[in-house]
Amino acid sequence: MKQLMKTLATAALAVSVALPMAAADYTMRLSHGDNENNPTHKGALKFEELVEKYSDGRIDVQIFPSNQLGSEQEVAQALRMGSIESEILYTGNLVPLAPSVGVMMLPYAFTSNEEAHAAMDALTGPLNERLPKEAGVRALGFFEKGFRVLTNGEREVNSLEDLQGLKIRVSKNNIAIETFKSWGLDPIPMAWSEVFPALQQGVIDGQENPYTTAISSKFYEVQKYITEVHYLIWSGPIIVSERFYQGLPEDLQEALDKAGREAADYERAVSAEETEAAKKELVELGMVLTGAPVDEEKWQSAAKALWPQFAPDIGGAEWLEEATQIMNDAIA
Ligand code: MLT
Repeated sequence: MKQLMKTLATAALAVSVALPMAAADYTMRLSHGDNENNPTHKGALKFEELVEKYSDGRIDVQIFPSNQLGSEQEVAQALRMGSIESEILYTGNLVPLAPSVGVMMLPYAFTSNEEAHAAMDALTGPLNERLPKEAGVRALGFFEKGFRVLTNGEREVNSLEDLQGLKIRVSKNNIAIETFKSWGLDPIPMAWSEVFPALQQGVIDGQENPYTTAISSKFYEVQKYITEVHYLIWSGPIIVSERFYQGLPEDLQEALDKAGREAADYERAVSAEETEAAKKELVELGMVLTGAPVDEEKWQSAAKALWPQFAPDIGGAEWLEEATQIMNDAIA
């Protein structure tokens, strides 16, 4: 009798675990580090809509903006374990865990948003041969928010000389750090969630992120000057835990792949529109937009000379060569 009770109890527990909590078969938490006014969030909402549509409601996407589940790098680590299912993050914040994605970060690799789109789309497949092994994640598509621009509260930066001595925050990856070093600075790597208070308290003088982020994160309240450095486009993959993905039936994997590609196209269009609007608004809010530095060629040649040195940080020389070829073919 005792044994029968035990067996029944175990069976009841198994049923309660196997039964879906809601109408959907799967719940997919989606974390990102931006607030709800940023193009990232608008792209996330589109992704949610598309996943739910293409999966016929079998996957329920729940979005957590503003680093609610942890910093971008912490959440990426949780994806590896399968304890969070998905995330949209800045490529630079993924590189320490998944070096191969760093090819998207080579300074001055792209001269336009269109070039970046072609390269990202061509690289997604080859990257998915590598990212599951490196970081237990795969990319479903890449968001893009335009060139990262340098903001600071101290002075107009029109040249490398003007830049000297400023305390600039960069994301925690070697490419950003070394690039700023090549321009004569000692940059300050810092988690994204800490940037606004650090600007407010004067711990740092400036940072670099897209125009739309200067609006959504209210940098105009604590920064005055913007320089278009053009060294790097903000790209950010929608990543999904490989454990979660491999646990899905094939039709739902396809639903995620399709939703990821389409959400990326949507976000890129939203971002392009909002970037233009952001430039106007920032001027109205009192910021000084100085355009590109007068000596941009010097910035370029210093940073581009580092490419071979970055190979160990971004998956090795062989991958750098292969990825550069893929990007060049896509852009041509
Ligand atoms: C960063 O600077 O860490 C990122 O660009 C922030 C973001 O994900 O938007």
